Amino acid sequence: MTSSLSIADFAALFGTTPEALPKPCIDLIKKGNWAYQPYTRDERDQIILDFLRRLRDRHFSFVTEGDKKRWIEGWGENLKEFKQSSGDLEKLTPKYIRPNMPVRLNGDFVKTDDPFFEKHWYAVFQEWLLLTYFQGFDHIFEFGCGPGHNVARLAELYPKATVTGLDWAEPSVEIVENLRTLKGLNTKGRQFDFFKPDYTLDIPPNSAVLTVGALEQTGDNNAAFLDFLMAKKPKLVVHAEPTYDWYDPNKLVDHLAIAAHELRNFWRGYHERLNKLKDQGKVEILKTKRAYFGSLVLEGYSQTIWRPV
Ligand SMILES: C[S@@+](CC[C@H](N)C(=O)[O-])C[C@H]1O[C@@H](n2cnc3c(N)ncnc32)[C@H](O)[C@@H]1O
Repeated sequence: MTSSLSIADFAALFGTTPEALPKPCIDLIKKGNWAYQPYTRDERDQIILDFLRRLRDRHFSFVTEGDKKRWIEGWGENLKEFKQSSGDLEKLTPKYIRPNMPVRLNGDFVKTDDPFFEKHWYAVFQEWLLLTYFQGFDHIFEFGCGPGHNVARLAELYPKATVTGLDWAEPSVEIVENLRTLKGLNTKGRQFDFFKPDYTLDIPPNSAVLTVGALEQTGDNNAAFLDFLMAKKPKLVVHAEPTYDWYDPNKLVDHLAIAAHELRNFWRGYHERLNKLKDQGKVEILKTKRAYFGSLVLEGYSQTIWRPV
């Protein structure tokens, strides 16, 4: 049986109402092919078997503190293509987005008609997230900005704001610098390491912070970055990240995400720390929302939105 994601489904996944979706998001939703089907029992068994084999064979990329080689290589390719194309923003798509993969939806794997379903879903999510939470700031900082696609979109949407893209990988910083020199966008690139936050970075009043699938790369060593944010006091912090704490270990498909999250040494402990700070009255948590959507391996877009008090 084929279903299709409706405007109401998108709103529910984002944790909002259809009325609150900005028009550009509605337009993107109307343009897309959101048809999907459940897998047959045999197909689902095969996906789970392959997943278990990958876990057994440790066939994943891992978070290893201090090792930024694969990011330098990956973003280096995007940088090269971006420069060769004289600034084609399509060249900022991460290479690890592969077509025709199962996606996670509402706790199960589904088969989609659009081979680039996740990429197109993300375009709607990105537009919604950036239009909903980043209006009216003078400065926006994306930490772990990778290929710079969020930085580029933020700078297009908010030309009066300065958008700073930070990453520990040099080519990523160079992409953000090229967004200014090739595209005329109001962007700045700067190197930054979550493990050794640079306190000389000025976060002026009326600043917002974004991370997307970046803090996931910190294992259990993310207290330094949280301390940094607490010290710098941005007005708003928005994380869209896979969130270990919100999977249900009693559900098979969630259980696989938990196992992959643990094996890959993805981030943990941050929400515990944030909740302690909330109990101490030091932060206000404005929204938490499990994504209920993601790739084969995990739900990458769970929202945690908060601010230091
Ligand atoms: C999965 S990518 C996400 C990139 C981007 N935010 C996006 O949405 O496409 C993770 C990013 O985190 C960066 N990263 C990993 N460890 C880091 C660290 N210790 N300090 C700063 N950036 C780091 C990587 O270089 C990479 O750009």
